[in-house]
Amino acid sequence: MEGAGGTTKIEYFHASKYGNGAQVAEEFQKQMAARGVAVTVRPIRDVRPREMPPADLYVFSSPGRLGKPTWGMRRFLKKVKLPAGTRYALLTTEMPTPEERREWQRVIPIMNQMLQEKGLVKVAESEVLVTAIKGPLQEDWQKKVQAFASQVLMSLDSQLR
Ligand SMILES: Cc1cc2nc3c(=O)[nH]c(=O)nc-3n(C[C@H](O)[C@H](O)[C@H](O)COP(=O)(O)O)c2cc1C
Repeated sequence: MEGAGGTTKIEYFHASKYGNGAQVAEEFQKQMAARGVAVTVRPIRDVRPREMPPADLYVFSSPGRLGKPTWGMRRFLKKVKLPAGTRYALLTTEMPTPEERREWQRVIPIMNQMLQEKGLVKVAESEVLVTAIKGPLQEDWQKKVQAFASQVLMSLDSQLR
């Protein structure tokens, strides 16, 4: 895909501990490559949030921790420096929980709040479920990634037109 300034580029930052989130990131990268969009995947520990690499869109991905994003991801998002109006998308890995737990599960809302306070603009959000703390991912996880990738592509399309 060609934007005004050259090839479209996505930066994908994850806080995967057991590898499920990293697997999701890799799948997203593969699916976007097939559609001509370059995705760079990096664990947040390798990135300085105040020196973000340039991109057309940023994806942030965290596992759930006691209803919230990981502490590392919250710290990262707190420090992230990007211009207002920058587009972002969220893809979390979470556990299937009973209704009661769903009520206090706020992984995605917390990430949204932290980024929207900086004036960033959300284009997509989704969660991929894991079947146990260390995984594996739920059976149809690739489909979830595909639906998410389609949403991201649609927003990139409208951005470039
Ligand atoms: C201490 C701890 C607390 C957790 N709490 C939650 C939680 O509140 N909600 C949730 O969806 N998942 C929770 N999980 C499960 C994570 O969602 C799961 O480990 C993660 O998605 C796996 O992704 P990863 O392999 O990329 O680390 C918890 C896991 C650990 C280790």
